Amino acid sequence: MNCCIVGVWSATLAAGPREVGIHMAMGVERREPSATMDSQFDSLGGVYEDFSGLPFRKYLEFPTVLGIIGQPTGLSILDFGCGNGVYARCLAGKGARHVVGIDISDGMLTYAREQERRSPQGITFISGDLPQDLLGTFDLVLSVYVLPYASDRAELDRQVRAAAGALRRGGRYIALPVNPAYDGDRDYYARYGFRLSSSDPRADGAVMTLELCFGQHQETVSAHYWTAPTLEDSLRQAGFTAITWQPHHVIEEGISALGADFWQPYLDKPHAAILDCTL
Ligand SMILES: C[S@@+](CC[C@H](N)C(=O)[O-])C[C@H]1O[C@@H](n2cnc3c(N)ncnc32)[C@H](O)[C@@H]1O
Repeated sequence: MNCCIVGVWSATLAAGPREVGIHMAMGVERREPSATMDSQFDSLGGVYEDFSGLPFRKYLEFPTVLGIIGQPTGLSILDFGCGNGVYARCLAGKGARHVVGIDISDGMLTYAREQERRSPQGITFISGDLPQDLLGTFDLVLSVYVLPYASDRAELDRQVRAAAGALRRGGRYIALPVNPAYDGDRDYYARYGFRLSSSDPRADGAVMTLELCFGQHQETVSAHYWTAPTLEDSLRQAGFTAITWQPHHVIEEGISALGADFWQPYLDKPHAAILDCTL
């Protein structure tokens, strides 16, 4: 698990100039991400690096997601919405054969590429379309906290179809949307380093506010809620089967460090769901 217990790199890199109208469609369709969605992550590479050092990610999220993936040795993996590349680096370090990270935020990709430059692992970070020759080649598409940034049903479907387009037949898609049954109390998740709230009713596309609030950080991003039937319908329409909702767990080290009571509220009502399915 060491590869994911990342050191805190607080020197946030300056985001490069943002290219408005980047195309991101994995060669399946083309789309114009909205300026708002594009810009809200550009300066957050370092914040997410620090977020990765929090107990919530170290002891709960990373071990849960990596446990669901299993041993990645020999796999070809697409980290869809890779952000600063934390999962891409981890999976490459654990023996994945080929790792590609793709994102629509130039700032995040600048950060990810700088990490790769400092400590090369053979990861390719792509902004824009997935090259034709990579379509249908991946064993696994991992997409952590990216579905919440689909702002309407068409965009949700495009993301899911893009994942399907990247996979070989029989490949696996693991995605973490907002848990349809998340706790609506804005402070419920504060002990884990973030707050989640919405003034909209729980309906497809409802706008949600995620506040990253830990250490010196206080950042707000806008996300979207999707119901379980809509998420499953989107997956089925893209050709996915064997759809399962996976549980979270905490590793022993986290329980020793912070006690079971610290973790129980999250385990009772995780803020993210884990969807696991096969093409
Ligand atoms: C909350 S961050 C998560 C980053 C990373 N997966 C992690 O676990 O730290 C969400 C990322 O998804 C990216 N993103 C949002 N919509 C996307 C899309 N349609 N295609 C690719 N990336 C997208 C954002 O630019 C951002 O970097």
